[in-house]
Amino acid sequence: MCGIFAYVGPQDAIKIAIEGLKKLEYRGYDSSGIAGIHEGDIGLCKSVGKIIEMEKEVQKSDLKLDTAITHTRWATHGAPTTINAHPHYDATKSLAVVHNGIVENHETLRQMLKDAGITFVSETDTEVIPQLIAHHYKGNILNAVHETVALLQGSFAIAVVHKDHPEQIIAAAKESPLAIGIGNDEAFIASDTQAFLVHTKDVVFLTNGEVAIVKADGIKVFDATAEEIIKKSEQLAYQAEEISKGHFEHFMLKEIFEQPQIIRNALHDRYIGEYGTAHLDRINFEYNELLNIKRILILACGTSWHAGLIASYMLESKARIPVQVEISSEFRYKNPIVEDDTLAIAISQSGETADTMAAVRELKAKGAKVIGICNVHGSALAREAHGCLFLKAGTEIGVASTKAFISQLVVISLFTLMMARMRHMSKAEGQGFLEALSILPEQVQRVLDKEELIESIAKKYAQYDNFFYLGRHYMYPTCLEGALKLKEISYVNANGYPAGEMKHGPIALIDENCPTVAFCSNKLTYNKLLSNLMEVKARNGKIIAIAEEGSEGLSGIADDIIWVPSTLDELTSIPASVAGQLFAYYVAKERNTEIDQPRNLAKSVTVE
Ligand code: F6R
Repeated sequence: MCGIFAYVGPQDAIKIAIEGLKKLEYRGYDSSGIAGIHEGDIGLCKSVGKIIEMEKEVQKSDLKLDTAITHTRWATHGAPTTINAHPHYDATKSLAVVHNGIVENHETLRQMLKDAGITFVSETDTEVIPQLIAHHYKGNILNAVHETVALLQGSFAIAVVHKDHPEQIIAAAKESPLAIGIGNDEAFIASDTQAFLVHTKDVVFLTNGEVAIVKADGIKVFDATAEEIIKKSEQLAYQAEEISKGHFEHFMLKEIFEQPQIIRNALHDRYIGEYGTAHLDRINFEYNELLNIKRILILACGTSWHAGLIASYMLESKARIPVQVEISSEFRYKNPIVEDDTLAIAISQSGETADTMAAVRELKAKGAKVIGICNVHGSALAREAHGCLFLKAGTEIGVASTKAFISQLVVISLFTLMMARMRHMSKAEGQGFLEALSILPEQVQRVLDKEELIESIAKKYAQYDNFFYLGRHYMYPTCLEGALKLKEISYVNANGYPAGEMKHGPIALIDENCPTVAFCSNKLTYNKLLSNLMEVKARNGKIIAIAEEGSEGLSGIADDIIWVPSTLDELTSIPASVAGQLFAYYVAKERNTEIDQPRNLAKSVTVE
């Protein structure tokens, strides 16, 4: 949430910084800005809207910068206006700050500064930071930043430029990501290493309130008590990715169509057919530790939470391990009971979600062992979990998660298989499970081949403003995910519900204006679901069914049917979800919404 990119070095600072910032646009896109120093003067340019708007403003202006800090915003405090966009000046316009995070005690700090006669111009929590730095500044910018961050409650990643110190940027971070890339006589600061990976792979991550002086010829890092510390740089082992839509109209559609290959990537080199089991490198757990696990606690948010729910059904039924799934934002304020034989699994595409990371840190503090399931190398989760299973899905640009979700399900299936084979599952069953996994790429391709049909069905229903999404057993979390996709990209109200619960209240909402998307793929509960759909039909509700080929009894009930290939109940969320993704995509397209960057959302939720 919010992206920071900064540059100090001999190259064109404005160009490098804006190019870097564009790679962070997934983190927020309601406004952006740039500031920096040139010949002892401070300059700034900001604009509402996407980064391209700010870039146009910069081109129109005569802004020149030798050192630049930039920011793309996802508004928390204050509307998305030019005034509220970052960077923010102090009252004397001597320094400028970009910030990712939330200053929770900003009201108190603002009042204290106002009492000292300082005038504020924006509604943001961030503006207290430059004003405080200026308030504490007595010629030593590092001391002033230290004194300021000591006063901040909440999370922050900041970059600061001061006109008296043109050759340096001060960076600091606590609970919000910030990486410093060390180049050849140049340095970069970014919320995500991908943003500077084309320039350098030599990285230092700031955490725990650390503050750094970043200069072209090197950095110095200080801990929160202002003691200088030695932080060795890490060499990133991953490559910068080429980001392009190819021939697709949207990144989301491209990512939906990448899914057969994403499944292959997630499976690659991770199973042993002969033994009918999975082999997961980087899990960093001994065989005995895994065997002794008596309980699993899964933490996640949003789409990743839906993957966690599917994992709970699968792990309980196949590995016979009790599983508790928690939404991280709720869990972090519980006082969790962590026993020696509890394993925590945090699922997060970005590996940065603030609530999930807070829950992980709390669990680690209580002695729990944590496995991350994550897509982003170098992310907080990848660094802080005891072991990490990577999704290998490549960068997901579409804000609505598609390929990362499918990959999460594949990784969860492999993990389940491994745990189940260590316990009760026979070799033959394990081999059957693997066989079903291995044909998923072709099965998903067959769903993608129905694009035209799904588009035509989506067009038929695109003007409805309310939907129910129903399913049972594995199809219940699957329908929650399908409904979330429709909500986030088309702004249509879609209520995901366990089909058996409808008669306990929500069925009151069913009429001819509220269609139901029914996820029917689960064999165990198929007949029960048909009865629930009859109840919908009896109340004039229209039904779009996503059902497995060969299922009987639907034609008299559903108005439209999208047939998907049949697989094991444990895996059927995968083809069914792909059909749901295409349906949501084409409803959104018909409604002409901003599919890749829906309003109010950001890809990486780094605030609470
Ligand atoms: C929905 C979506 C979000 C994320 C959620 C958690 O399409 O993408 O609901 O799943 O914000 O994000 P991660 O997985 O990065 O922790």
